[in-house]
Amino acid sequence: MADITYDASSKCWILQMEASTYCIGLSEGDSSLQHIYWGPRIAYAAASEMAHASGPLKRPFARSERTIREEYAPWGGMRFSEPSLKVEYADGTRVIEWVFEEQGVERSGAGQTLGLRFRDRAYPLTVTLYYRIYDGHDVIERWVRLENIGGSSPMTIEQALSADWQLPHRDHYRLTYLHGRVLKETQVTETMLCPGKVVLESRRGATSHQFNPWVALDPEASATQESGEVWSAALAWSGSWKIVVETTPYGEVHCAGGVNDFDFRYRLDEGAGLELPAFVGLYSSEGFGGVSRRWHAYERELVLPEPPEAVRPVLYNSWEATAFAVNEGNQVELAEKAAELGAEVFVVDDGWFGARDNDHAGLGDWMVSPAKFPHGLNPLIARVNALGMRFGLWIEPEMVNPDSDLYRAHPDWVYHFRHRSRTEGRNQLVLNLAREDVRAWVLATLDRLLSEHAIEFVKWDMNRYFSEPGWPDEAGRNPERIWLDHVRNLYGIIDELRRRHPKVAFESCAAGGGRVDLGILSRVEQVWPSDNTDALDRLRIQEGFSYAYAPRVMMCWVTDCPNFVTRRTVPLRYRFHVAMAGALGIGGDLSRWTPQEREEARGFIAMYKRVRPVIQNGLLYRLRSPRAGRVAASQYVARDGSEVVVFAWGHSQQFAETQVSLPLCGLEEEAHYADSMSDVTYSGAYLAQKGLPLNLVGDFDSRMVHLVRTTSAW
Ligand code: GLA
Repeated sequence: MADITYDASSKCWILQMEASTYCIGLSEGDSSLQHIYWGPRIAYAAASEMAHASGPLKRPFARSERTIREEYAPWGGMRFSEPSLKVEYADGTRVIEWVFEEQGVERSGAGQTLGLRFRDRAYPLTVTLYYRIYDGHDVIERWVRLENIGGSSPMTIEQALSADWQLPHRDHYRLTYLHGRVLKETQVTETMLCPGKVVLESRRGATSHQFNPWVALDPEASATQESGEVWSAALAWSGSWKIVVETTPYGEVHCAGGVNDFDFRYRLDEGAGLELPAFVGLYSSEGFGGVSRRWHAYERELVLPEPPEAVRPVLYNSWEATAFAVNEGNQVELAEKAAELGAEVFVVDDGWFGARDNDHAGLGDWMVSPAKFPHGLNPLIARVNALGMRFGLWIEPEMVNPDSDLYRAHPDWVYHFRHRSRTEGRNQLVLNLAREDVRAWVLATLDRLLSEHAIEFVKWDMNRYFSEPGWPDEAGRNPERIWLDHVRNLYGIIDELRRRHPKVAFESCAAGGGRVDLGILSRVEQVWPSDNTDALDRLRIQEGFSYAYAPRVMMCWVTDCPNFVTRRTVPLRYRFHVAMAGALGIGGDLSRWTPQEREEARGFIAMYKRVRPVIQNGLLYRLRSPRAGRVAASQYVARDGSEVVVFAWGHSQQFAETQVSLPLCGLEEEAHYADSMSDVTYSGAYLAQKGLPLNLVGDFDSRMVHLVRTTSAW
């Protein structure tokens, strides 16, 4: 059971979680919140003992630096490392001096929230630091609420992070993070920390392909996939963000994160509040695998809009087959073929609206193209439904092409500065979603689209980053609030559409994986990790993705060869086995698939449907990394231990390397496991110690093995 206890004798709060403990306390006359402990679960008495013993760190000659490890550092005094909060008051005062005011603990469902309110000694600013923990989890959600409690003029928030995580003192830390670019997202990247800062950030208005807002830190680079201590943190924010991992001159490591302060100013009027997004942290002593399984469980049980055991349907998407040239005839043909294979959702991608024959025109004109769909979309939707599938549609609501009726009518609706270029990306501009008229228009337009059609799936795309983030009408007030308000209004629109159209599921896409984070995941069922559908490249993208995000949300398509991005050709089986590692979709041009290929695909999809609860909602063990060696492998274990799915993907084989033995994880030694596709049975001990034997022959050979726990021995 999660529990938050206040220990009055040491003025500390002890947060007890499933397998970890977190402890913080007041110090320096209640003017600092000090970090005391974060690690494996310890007794209350031990945490209290640590709190009693804590205080300013002893550092000879460190006279000009604060020696308190703070949970949240308001800029002021002898603070020179990354601050959490920087404010300018109306009279020009730019430093904060605060004192603790009040605590509160709230219990709701499986969660408990601690709120600690601080107040500036002289100005009407209160800062409440929140900590929420949950039964059965090791995550701590941390966020902050700022309030201008009046009595003075507005104040300007110049930097307001969500949390600062203090790591235990160790000699060296390794930082693991997810780096990438368009078509090469979420690559696992590692570096040893040195004194100084590593800044991971997005200044792009969206989460970004370059860095995902997720980090992991392990001391002495000692963690493996299944052993060792790892601290990890992730932001629930889909706009510009910043995570600073800083090593102080004294070797202390802290990790501060939240909304990016670059170009940021937020005017907080009298009586107004500002709630910042959560920066979530967790600890595991079970290596990177343990960290990932904890993130996955958190997402399934506490973040995603669907229940924990929900499974994502097999989806067909038209993009790689028909690109912009969609029409009723070719979509019906694809739908018939997709249904025959076993698809459960049919999604028409870009090209169905306005004058959208290529990416130069049409964005913003969300009216069905009469040339392509003379009878509207409803006959196609009816056909898709009659084939037993749900109908889905692609949209990109935050964007406009200059060549569109919307832009011709409202050229001032995009971000821009006077006397400056409006830089186009993919021939499009970004709508100023912070404007109330634009927000209302986007909501009304999408509401109408969903009301007039039986749409049950929306792929919400966002294909360019912000440039010239200006808002001339707001000049002199607070145009920089677009960095917050765009994202808040985006969230608000999706939330409202979900409320009005509860049958619609959403997928977040941003030119591939540019908007994947815990913030968007609380309002979409799934995400599109990358436009790169090459199976070999995907292995690395999916590996990195799986460090932070659950397999269920990872949409993966089987597409045609040679792949349109890499020109690589790999067997259909290999493509299926890679895509089956997440939520399976098909994106190939089915009109060109041979009867044999369609037959093979039918078999894979049927098999996938049998095992998908294990894959999408089970416990993931990354057995072998695609970055190391010629065979990559992953294993999924059903939460009740009754079933196991293993994928092994081989490539670039050398002579006489066909035999592979994969020691499995998370099995019961005494139990027996039967291969559902052969009549072989193994003991748990055999599979754990000797390993699952596989024979992978040639390049791009792959296997899926499905094991079912049996009660009887062989
Ligand atoms: C983006 C998406 C693709 C596809 C196209 C359509 O690139 O990432 O999956 O939807 O837009 O234009």
